[in-house]
Order: sequence, then C-alpha cells, then structure tokens
Amino acid sequence: MTLLLDTLALQPVDRRPVWVMRQAGRYLPEYRELRRRHAFQDAIRDPKVASEITLQPIRRFGFDGAIMFADIMTPLEAMGVDMTFDPGPKLRPMTLVEIADLPDLDLDRVEHVAETLRIVRREVPDEVTVIGFAGAPTTLLAYLLEGSGSKEYLPLRTAMHEGTPELDAALAKLTTNMHAYLAMQIGAGAQLVQLFDSWAGILPRDLLESRSYVAARDVLAGLDAPTIYFAPGTGHAHKSMGEVGATAYGVDWRVPIDVAWDRIGSDIAIQGNLDPAILLTDPDRIRRCVARLLERTAGRPGHIVSLGHGIDRHTPLENVAAFIDAVREAT
Ligand code: CP3
Repeated sequence: MTLLLDTLALQPVDRRPVWVMRQAGRYLPEYRELRRRHAFQDAIRDPKVASEITLQPIRRFGFDGAIMFADIMTPLEAMGVDMTFDPGPKLRPMTLVEIADLPDLDLDRVEHVAETLRIVRREVPDEVTVIGFAGAPTTLLAYLLEGSGSKEYLPLRTAMHEGTPELDAALAKLTTNMHAYLAMQIGAGAQLVQLFDSWAGILPRDLLESRSYVAARDVLAGLDAPTIYFAPGTGHAHKSMGEVGATAYGVDWRVPIDVAWDRIGSDIAIQGNLDPAILLTDPDRIRRCVARLLERTAGRPGHIVSLGHGIDRHTPLENVAAFIDAVREAT
C-alpha cells in the first residue's frame, strides 16, 4: 500500500499525500523543452516521451501520485474522432446520433497508453501511486457536440434538457467505452483512476443528478481499483454526489473543504482544494493558506491534498515547492 492508497482507504497516515492536476505540463521547463521537439498528440502517442513527461514532476517535486500523460480526448481519437489541440481540443461538432454510432474503442489504438503506464509503474518509486484517468461522459459529450471548449456549453445544455433517446444512446456509448478504457489502464498498472467531469458543473442540479452522476457511476462501477470523481463547480449538487459511488471526490476551491466533505459523505475520502491562483502569489502566503486548509481537515483520515483544479502554466516553480513543503512539514 502507498500513502495515497492508505488515505483512500481512510487509514491513519503519517502525513497527507499530495499531487496536483496538470502536474505533467507547461509550468515545467523540462516539459516545455520536450514539447519543442514533440507535438502534443505525438508526445502522448510515444510511450517513451509520455512516460518521461509523467515522471518529470515526480523527479522534481516528489509528488505522491504520478498521473499518466495523455488527454481526456485521447480515447475518442481511438474511436475515430479526428481532432487537433490549440491548446485545447478542436474538432468538427458532432450530432448525438453520430456520437452514438461511433465505433467502440479499439484497445489496440490505445496500446500506447497501456505501455506508458507499464513504463511508469516500473520506473516510479514504490511509494508513488500511478494514476490513470478518463473524461466523464457529460464532459466528453460537451466537447463532441460543441467541437471545442466553451463558456456556456449551450449544445450540451440543450441536449440534456431535451433528454431524447439519442442523448441516452450517446451517453451510453461514452459510458461503456470509458469503463473499458479505465479497466484497460488498471490492467496495465494504474493503481487509482480519476474521472474528470470538468464541465458538468454548468448543468442545473436535476440534470447533474439524472444524467451526469448516473453516467459517471456506470463508468466507475465494478472497476478493480479505487476511484476519484472530480466535478468542479458542482457545489449546488454536492449532497447527491455520493451516488456516483467513487472512493473519493475532488472538490474545487469554491466551497470550504470540510463543508464539501460533510455534504458529499462521511465514509469517503476527499481531494483538494487550494485555489490554483494561490500558487501564483508568494511562498509565505502559500504556507499560510496550506496551514488553513490542513486545519479544516485535521484529525480526519482521508484527505488527499491537491488544488481545486489544474495548476496554472504561469506558476513559479518555487511556489510549487513551497506548497509541497508546507504539506510535508505539517504532517
Ligand atoms: O498532468 C496531468 O494532469 C496529466 C495530463 C493531462 C492533460 N490533460 C495534459 C494536457 C490530463 C489529466 C488532462 C485532462 C484534461 N484535458 C481535462 C480534465 C482536467 C481539467 O482541467 O478539467 C480537460 C478538460 C482536457 C481538455 C484539454 N486538453 C484542454 C482544455 C486543454 C488546454 C489546456 C490548457 O491548459 O490551456 C488541453 C491540452 C493539454 N492537456 C495540455 C496538457 C499538458 C497543454 C498542451 C500543450 O502542451 O500545449
């Protein structure tokens, strides 16, 4: 067992584990250096490069979790969806029927993801937990219908309100395939998987409950590893989030972590939730904010320390170090 896995199992630990979303990314000079030579999608498709990028933040900062380098859109490319990244995904917007009719994920076409995980699992120190991930059906649907990121996600919200059989079919297609994708990752060495529902928070509570949480639950059900469900901006629907049945829940910075924890559930672990903007300030402030965060969960097993969303690419390295040191020193 690792620190992260013990924490997920609500076991008492000597200190709290820490990792951050997007830790393998552009705030790291060694990442930017590699990206000069490899385009984003090529870096994901080459297990040597992808595993190296996964390991970069572990070497530099000693995070307790190593999240594999890929994108939530990677398995959709292996279902025949063409896209580019600029820096977010860009693709031809699709209809619900086109999405429902996509071919099922060809595991051979994501063999590079399996190989990346095998390499990472071999190379990381035993105490570091290897983390796999997928996008949740609602969030993938948002991109497929819109063709890119957006502020409003009106095509998603319209389709969700209409609630047609075609919506059910499109969500079912994404649900079964992301379940298979995560099962493959666990088989290849992922010890923990996180489901990213990054844009679900744009939905009203009733649709989150009747669609997003149900689909997320079905993706995670029966997987042979602990799971984290991360759906930022869902403070209006924390009380029912436990229906997803994950081992742990990631919370963003909007709600105090202990308040979110009580609302989501008591027999679960929780991950978060420092505002990534705090890492853009200064080491002293970061230490104070970390101390306040840790006080809020003091004496309660099951807290994975992290940010409320991905680390910003302008984050100074010394601030990341201050963040991790503050967590480590606090025990
Ligand atoms: O370090 C890690 O967390 C692992 C790698 C990872 C990436 N994307 C690499 C990446 C993970 C887990 C993701 C997930 C992802 N991708 C999500 C869910 C997480 C979240 O932020 O809510 C989403 C919504 C995407 C879609 C996506 N991919 C966006 C919106 C962007 C632009 C991001 C930005 O920061 O501007 C990407 C591109 C992307 N994915 C980059 C990285 C490192 C930047 C690519 C580059 O080098 O130019």
